[in-house]
Amino acid sequence: MKLSKSILAAGVGIAALASASLAHAEPTAEVLHWWTSGGEAKAVAALKKDFEEHGGKWQDSPVAGGAGDAAMTVLRSRVLSGDAPSAVQLKGPAIQEWAEQGALANLNDVAKKEKWDEVIPQRIQEIMKYKGDYVAVPVNIHRVNWIWSNPELLAKVGATEGPKTWAEFNTLADKLKAAGITPLAHGGQPWQDATIFETVVLGMGGPEFFQKALIDLDEDALKSDTMKNVFDEMRKIRGYVDPDFPGRDWNLATAMVMNGKAAMQIMGDWAKGEFLAAGKVPGKDFLCSATPADNGNGFLFNTDSFAMFKVDGEDKIEGQKLLAELIVGKKFQKTFNLLKGSIPARTGVSLDDFDDCAKKSAADMAADEKTGGFLPSMAHGMALPGHLSGAIVDVVTAHFNSDMTSDEAMNRLVEAIELAKD
Ligand code: BGC
Repeated sequence: MKLSKSILAAGVGIAALASASLAHAEPTAEVLHWWTSGGEAKAVAALKKDFEEHGGKWQDSPVAGGAGDAAMTVLRSRVLSGDAPSAVQLKGPAIQEWAEQGALANLNDVAKKEKWDEVIPQRIQEIMKYKGDYVAVPVNIHRVNWIWSNPELLAKVGATEGPKTWAEFNTLADKLKAAGITPLAHGGQPWQDATIFETVVLGMGGPEFFQKALIDLDEDALKSDTMKNVFDEMRKIRGYVDPDFPGRDWNLATAMVMNGKAAMQIMGDWAKGEFLAAGKVPGKDFLCSATPADNGNGFLFNTDSFAMFKVDGEDKIEGQKLLAELIVGKKFQKTFNLLKGSIPARTGVSLDDFDDCAKKSAADMAADEKTGGFLPSMAHGMALPGHLSGAIVDVVTAHFNSDMTSDEAMNRLVEAIELAKD
């Protein structure tokens, strides 16, 4: 509002003028996100539609690349050049880091009006708030530790469900391999290697070990018999993927399971979004099961969210408020999560129309919350700041793609974390 300085000086009717100008501003949002696969694109289209139906003008800024590494690089350069997008897919500790820089807008007004404190679970509120103020809004709860499998291929070796322990996983994978079937569809990108790694840490070590190793970064846990077993298992898994795995996008790996080219994929439930977008039916065309748990169950959560960056212009500020309000709204949380493969991040949304995988996710989450098994994903930027998770991911990938021994991997892990901490 160009007049504002002189009007402020004159001190007249500021509130009235401000709200009149808000009423005329067309809510606009440039939305930076990395949802470009089949299922993801359908889900983000639902958000765009909702926003437009409420009078919003949507400027799409997709940056392809699973888990958002490329999107975060674009974000940094945009902010550095003084051209921040207004709404950004951002999550976990990265929200706090950007808020610390003073880059994020305060959403408390909308939060109060929409009673977010009452509908967003405490654990998720903490991620969305910086020093008590809302600076981001949650979209969903994804579970990372899933196996997606092709029932027809499993049946060829006499299996009817996903493996429950890592020993069972290995036996099944050996049988599949012997039958000429690729046991595991995998995309060799660091974040995908890390996704498998963290499910093995959780499955072999149990929730307490996961907490110690990948959240507290406890040296005894990082260099332990259990961690050695984890790296040994990673080496075995390396033998269960096809030779063309390097660089493959995660959704192409999902397509391999869909098309009978591989029996299983270890991936978060955004993979379910891919199956659904292709018209596949859970329980019939594909199966979902939690990744093997040798030592107590657990749930690695990954909550997508949007942060609103500080921008000028009433139209953009109105756009941010509208978008934030819609995202937390019940209607959007249902529509979006049905497409995305995740479950709602707020209370009060019925799961009646959701499939059995989503219902299992919600039930397991409730059970694991009670036993300390509800844990933030390291591979998906929920558990640690980027420099620390980056150090872990580098070692995991280096080990997966070489002949490095498990002992050396553990030594490097500790060293890399120490270096990153300095
Ligand atoms: C995000 C998901 C996304 C997946 C693949 C995850 O880190 O949370 O929303 O579908 O990466 O890009």
